[in-house]
Amino acid sequence: MQFHPTPNGSRALIRLEGVCKSYSTASGPFAALKSVSFEVKAGEFVGITGKSGAGKTTLVNMITGTDQITSGEVWVGDVAVHRMSEDRRSRWRGRNIGVVYQSFHLMPSLSLIDNVMLPMDFCGQFRPRESRARAVELLREVELEQHALKLPSEISGGQQQRVAIARALANDPPVIIADEPTGRLDSVTAEVIFEIFAGLVRRGKTIVMVTHDQGLVERVDRVLQLRDGVLDAA
Ligand SMILES: Nc1ncnc2c1ncn2[C@@H]1O[C@H](COP(=O)(O)OP(=O)(O)O)[C@@H](O)[C@H]1O
Ligand SMILES: [Mg+2]
Repeated sequence: MQFHPTPNGSRALIRLEGVCKSYSTASGPFAALKSVSFEVKAGEFVGITGKSGAGKTTLVNMITGTDQITSGEVWVGDVAVHRMSEDRRSRWRGRNIGVVYQSFHLMPSLSLIDNVMLPMDFCGQFRPRESRARAVELLREVELEQHALKLPSEISGGQQQRVAIARALANDPPVIIADEPTGRLDSVTAEVIFEIFAGLVRRGKTIVMVTHDQGLVERVDRVLQLRDGVLDAA
């Protein structure tokens, strides 16, 4: 992925400029993000915190292009996410962003290995046999290869989140976006998940992680705090 050169000379991998997001509600438009701007450099591990309702999920949905922004710009590498059609955004996301959710979002009827293969099947950059071997390797990295043929319901929450991380890495994206990935896990399991993320950063991935966990926030490179849709000065 290309870097997007910024006016101040930094080489940001992710850059948001004046991002606003309004939802239409029964009582009129609701501004969930109010002119949010920030940059994330390649290889950074950035945390996003803020109270429930502050706009954290809305913000990550703007970076991943899961939802349409109201105004402003979102750049990831040299790609103008805000200018892409929904269809192009979803194909682009499949290759370039690994997304990890609080509630894992695994397909309940598919085995773990099939869950990890799904993004590879969707993007088609690996041949079927290759993608199977790659899925086994990714499950090995999160120490679950011996469970490859189980269903998500047959493993613990922490194990499901490790599968979700393996799935997020399927197409080897440069960027991982995680929305409260440890929110449903006990502290010991949360630590395991955090360590996997820290290891990915050491291997050159760029990670943006929403979290409520103060202990984890203290260990990322930089923290952005959202308050009622506005980013506090760090
Ligand atoms: N689809 C939607 N329609 C209307 N309002 C929404 C929608 N999604 C989120 N909101 C509102 O936007 C605000 C920010 O939500 P969200 O980004 O989910 O916050 P957080 O992830 O920080 O808890 C909240 O007030 C929420 O009620
Ligand atoms: Mg949220």
